Amino acid sequence: MSIEIVVTGATGFLGRHLVPILSQRYGEDNVRGLSSRDYDLMDPTQARRMIAELRPRVLVHLAAYSGGIGANRKFPADFYYRNTMLTATVFEAAARGGVSKLVYTMGGCSYPAKATSPIDESQMWSGYPQPESAGYSSAKKMGIVASESYRTQHGFNSVVLIPGNMYGEYDNFRESESHVVPAMIRRYYEARLKNLPEVVMWGTGEPVRDFVYARDVAALIPHFIEHYDSSEPVNISSGTTTPIRELAEQIKAATGYQGRITWDTSKPNGQMIKIFDVKRLKGLGLACDTPLSAGLRKTVDWFAGNYDGATDGLRI
Ligand SMILES: NC(=O)c1ccc[n+]([C@@H]2O[C@H](COP(=O)([O-])OP(=O)(O)OC[C@H]3O[C@@H](n4cnc5c(N)ncnc54)[C@H](OP(=O)(O)O)[C@@H]3O)[C@@H](O)[C@H]2O)c1
Repeated sequence: MSIEIVVTGATGFLGRHLVPILSQRYGEDNVRGLSSRDYDLMDPTQARRMIAELRPRVLVHLAAYSGGIGANRKFPADFYYRNTMLTATVFEAAARGGVSKLVYTMGGCSYPAKATSPIDESQMWSGYPQPESAGYSSAKKMGIVASESYRTQHGFNSVVLIPGNMYGEYDNFRESESHVVPAMIRRYYEARLKNLPEVVMWGTGEPVRDFVYARDVAALIPHFIEHYDSSEPVNISSGTTTPIRELAEQIKAATGYQGRITWDTSKPNGQMIKIFDVKRLKGLGLACDTPLSAGLRKTVDWFAGNYDGATDGLRI
């Protein structure tokens, strides 16, 4: 099959899983990954130039301006503005520039703060997201509106995927920015290096989440390129429920840490349950089924092998 695919955000966490998968399936010469150094896609002129120069048949638009909760609290306007532009310029340039298919990703944080687990796609518009990251998550959510609007006005085929809590190789392990899985991996790994007798965790360990291995998410994208033509978004997650306490035990095992885990129950638990409904995904005959233990082991191996780069704030 001859196909010309451009991936924006190819230097990011998901992009680094995706590009090798697409290259293997469609041929290396037919896949081109981009970073912000190639085109600043917040700029409508550069977005149009990207489409005009590369003339992709398929565009997988992963480029986003993302960060941890601290950064979201401090710079909500930047998160709002940059992600609004990254969504708007690329939909406009792609729909008017002859692209046949656009795959867009957004995150589970765009769901309302009060969504009921398991969170299905119908809950997307039933409330305001967590206020501290609403600039980011509301801007990303406009991808659904863009997908429907350009479909209606231009007959443009775009799809919106909602990965859940992704983890895996190439994740962000920087202390101030990381999500729960990379943060825990780093803590246990460093506790092992320093021979610490104890790692203290916040809360009771009882809240439950579902986690999805990033390579599983990437591996499903060809299906959405080839077979899905609807602006109804699709949750992409494992659908399995893991208590934080079990996650901690699994990461402890994967890092080889021998000390104790202590739960400081005076500290808040956060939301007790946040899991994604994957009925729509399963209805398409798709699943993300790498067991958590196997995905964690690969992630820890990668982290250990790339420790300096993974923790110093530089992309490796
Ligand atoms: N990470 C998660 O857990 C998660 C969960 C659900 C959904 N998502 C979604 O999945 C997608 C990929 O996320 P990710 O975690 O892989 O992101 P990431 O690691 O933060 O990477 C962001 C990518 O976007 C590029 N980029 C940033 N600003 C740009 C600009 N102005 N012009 C062009 N490119 C720009 C970056 O290029 P440089 O390398 O040049 O900076 C980088 O390649 C995003 O849409 C995100 O919202 C992520």
